[in-house]
Amino acid sequence: MSDQEKAAKRAQWEEINRAKAAAKEKERVASESAAPRTGTPDKKFQAVRGTRDLLPPDTGLWNRVEQTAHDVFSTFGFGEIRTPIFEETEVFARSIGAETDVVAKEMYTFGDRPAEMPTMSEIAASFGNYARQLILFFDRGEIPQTESNRGLIELLKIKVRDLDEAYRVVEASKKTGVGLQTAFGRCNDILLEMGSVTNGLVLGASLTMRPEATASVCRAYIEHNMQQLPQPVKLYYMGPMFRRERPQKGRYRQFYQIGAEILGGPDAPAIDAELIEMLMTFFEKCGLQGTELSINSIGHAADNCRRGYVAKLREELIKVKDKLGPDSQRRIETNPLRVLDSKLEHEQAFIEKLPRIADHLCDECKAHYAAVKRDLDLRGVVYHENWRLVRGLDYYMRTTFEITARGLGSQNAVCGGGRYDGLVELLGGPPTKGIGFAIGEDRLILSLQEGGKAPAAQGPDVFIAWMGQNAYATAIRAAKTLRNAGLRVELPATELKFGKALERASKLGSRFALILGDNELQSGEWTLKNLATSEQQKLTEQALLEYLQKL
Ligand code: HAM
Repeated sequence: MSDQEKAAKRAQWEEINRAKAAAKEKERVASESAAPRTGTPDKKFQAVRGTRDLLPPDTGLWNRVEQTAHDVFSTFGFGEIRTPIFEETEVFARSIGAETDVVAKEMYTFGDRPAEMPTMSEIAASFGNYARQLILFFDRGEIPQTESNRGLIELLKIKVRDLDEAYRVVEASKKTGVGLQTAFGRCNDILLEMGSVTNGLVLGASLTMRPEATASVCRAYIEHNMQQLPQPVKLYYMGPMFRRERPQKGRYRQFYQIGAEILGGPDAPAIDAELIEMLMTFFEKCGLQGTELSINSIGHAADNCRRGYVAKLREELIKVKDKLGPDSQRRIETNPLRVLDSKLEHEQAFIEKLPRIADHLCDECKAHYAAVKRDLDLRGVVYHENWRLVRGLDYYMRTTFEITARGLGSQNAVCGGGRYDGLVELLGGPPTKGIGFAIGEDRLILSLQEGGKAPAAQGPDVFIAWMGQNAYATAIRAAKTLRNAGLRVELPATELKFGKALERASKLGSRFALILGDNELQSGEWTLKNLATSEQQKLTEQALLEYLQKL
């Protein structure tokens, strides 16, 4: 093979490589964007595993529950906060704790990138140009200016210069016909090096779909200087959260929480007690039956309090280590408190014999816990103590609580919460007290449904059976008047024969059929048929409105 042929082959190879990189990028972009246009046309899409559609009439119950939360929480002086559905990963990782299941396994995390930056496929014709864009976006501050990125960008600048030079040599060799193969070889080497440099760049922040909202609320408290407002600040929220858990009844990957947080002010036990009272009032107003409130205190992180207890617990756990399952064995090292959460049958006997935190609380934490319980008694809140209630997120201290409800199987915790003094500080804010809870709305709804609290599907109040174009105009006017009066009205879009219209009205569960035909228009008296009793009456427009409004 001549030099020229070899050079041509290399050029071809370079083209193929570029095309491959472009195709890969295209595939990535396509998989990120909505509805690809190709593929099997008869593919049936389904909601992603662990997510689900909420449909009427169930959504009626969801709305009722949410309205109850708005009503009850506002009577306790809480205002609604809406935080974004994703945050910088660090917000959650730092708050919830790197060793927790949520952070270690369950977060939906993705890398961001500047919106305007062209993708590889858009400038696939030249990898050199892509590298130039990366440099430009870095210099403009649109790619994170971290130390590692800065080093890589400096390297990329050198490679871009090397590449320009190598291309110049290629052009010169083309003219002389000498050294073309070597020149192309050099270009390829530089392109490969550029590839590995750009792969190492982090194009945007690491973001995470919120697995919970306490961390977000604390981030917002700091960001909006809420410590300058009268303290404590009382906030509540509702909305979807995301955790990559194994789906089962009452456990989803997109689930909904209704939560409340009290930030700032003192750590007076009355704050803990009032928050719990509000929660129980809410459940009562929702009609939730069979709730059980468990409380505990896990003290604070000091040698004479929780830290001392954890050391003791670890010591005892090591003694029975080989009797425990692999999860608990691992937790002896990472977080011994979580062993107390274990539901494994064969571990229960060992766990019951372990030292209890109540016997190791410092005097302040002991007094705080006793005062919380006294205050709950004063408010008539029924609870039982559960020394094993440690909760799965790292930010808790002192009061922790959980509520279980009926009809939920193994996932019966309908709410969890606790105190988290110090979390705001951990996120870069001033020392701030904090306490809150989050209700699993999906579970609350399930429990209400199991308890027969589901609303039946609501049919229309009035189905307007109109016949003839003249009646149509009157029907539109009647529908408008009745809807303005707050009645649910079904106005069929096409004319139906009398029998069909009544059949449709019954199927929809309508209470009344308003019959509008030539006779009614001529007489000015409209026919109203009660579909349950089949009674019919003739009424003027005004009388009809008055009659329906009284129902
Ligand atoms: P959590 O215990 O992780 O606490 O969640 C609170 C409630 O959310 C649980 O009791 C459960 O009802 C519901 N929940 C959690 N994961 C799922 C899931 N995968 N599917 C369905 N429901 C679920 C927190 O999130 C804390 N942020 C609560 C808090 C607020 N603590 C202080 N302030």
